[in-house]
Amino acid sequence: MVNYLKNIDKKAVLFVCLGNICRSPTAHGVFRALVERRGLAHLIEIDSAGTAAYHIGNPPDHRSAAAALRRGYDLSDLRARQAIAADFGHYDYIIAMDKENLAELKSICPAGFQGYLGLFLDLAELSVLEVPDPYYGGPSGFDQVLDLVEAASEALLNRIAKELNQ
Ligand code: 4NP
Repeated sequence: MVNYLKNIDKKAVLFVCLGNICRSPTAHGVFRALVERRGLAHLIEIDSAGTAAYHIGNPPDHRSAAAALRRGYDLSDLRARQAIAADFGHYDYIIAMDKENLAELKSICPAGFQGYLGLFLDLAELSVLEVPDPYYGGPSGFDQVLDLVEAASEALLNRIAKELNQ
């Protein structure tokens, strides 16, 4: 289905994990900061969502928020929501943190979606493909998420900037 209201001079990016309280809000905050630093905030819309409904309306997990803040990323304005089929009519990039999230997204993706639906780390040349879920692990997991997200955010922004001729 063609969305005639879509603004083709802008790109919209949705980061998706399971709960939308650890990995995808981290990606949201990191990518937002990078986009602002590059002066492209007026051209790139960013949001994040979870495939599950467990945490709808909740702020990011305090461990993710603290780890992000230590690197200068403020996640305090973010609130969890669930990814829905209508997101495919709005976002150009729907980016999954792991293969399970991607499979869930594929199951609600309408036929004819023309954007990018794939793994975040597939966009970067890293030795891993998935951002591991830090929820049940120790503190180092949250820093590992940040390391992977920072690297992949650079790759994503380079790709989008090229598409926008920036
Ligand atoms: P996220 O992490 O998908 O990175 O937000 C999780 C958050 C919550 C749960 C699992 C993973 N949970 O089971 O509640």
